[in-house]
Amino acid sequence: MDKIILGNWKMNGSLKMIENYFSELKSESLSVKKHTVGLAVPFPYLSLFQKYLKQSSWMLGAQDVSQFMEQGAYTGEVSVEMLKDFNTQFALVGHSERRQYFKESNALLTRKIKNLLSGNIIPIFCVGEILEEKESQHTEQVLNEQLNALDNEIDTKNIVIAYEPVWAIGTGKIPTQEEIYTSLKYIRSQILSRHSEADKIPLLYGGSVSGDNAKEIISIEHVDGLLIGGASLKPHDFIKIVQSV
Ligand code: PGA
Repeated sequence: MDKIILGNWKMNGSLKMIENYFSELKSESLSVKKHTVGLAVPFPYLSLFQKYLKQSSWMLGAQDVSQFMEQGAYTGEVSVEMLKDFNTQFALVGHSERRQYFKESNALLTRKIKNLLSGNIIPIFCVGEILEEKESQHTEQVLNEQLNALDNEIDTKNIVIAYEPVWAIGTGKIPTQEEIYTSLKYIRSQILSRHSEADKIPLLYGGSVSGDNAKEIISIEHVDGLLIGGASLKPHDFIKIVQSV
């Protein structure tokens, strides 16, 4: 089965860096046929990435979206319609950094997911436990609670879920294969118990994925793809991951 390999640039990049990135990327890397590859980029650079990715098979993604649907007096917000103007195909929702720094609640995340779906943009819904929750064996409880954001009205057909243990993000620490398998299996069973048609939801793993561990992680049952932070910022590293899976 084809895998989904997505990069998350977070708040990184500059005009110069993007120019260098694409001049280092070989054109054949941009026409990967085997897998679905994409980058979630900072809002101000959507237009530039759209230009660079135009002739490629890569998907353009955003890292967030507004909870508000209609345009109006929402200073600092970016709407689904604005994302559509740049042919944005997917957007992250509920990344742990948004949960941590912006205290994003389930109700807010539900609105964002619904907005994206109404605009035919794929939400990549991120879930994952922090270290204390893992150590106190509350991982499943936390995942269950986070998955409540996918309420009954949400059509799960076009959703992707990314499991990202927060303690593994940017730390170089990776869960064991068994831990990844167990969490993804749990996520799948939880969604299935709420949305009977959800057996096809692709599940991604994210957290310290590199060219050295991608192959092993992707081979774990239930892992349909990867969400990559740091390593997506360097074309060589990102392509190494894409080629290794
Ligand atoms: P990382 O980030 O690959 O740098 O650990 C992953 C993420 O936050 O999506």
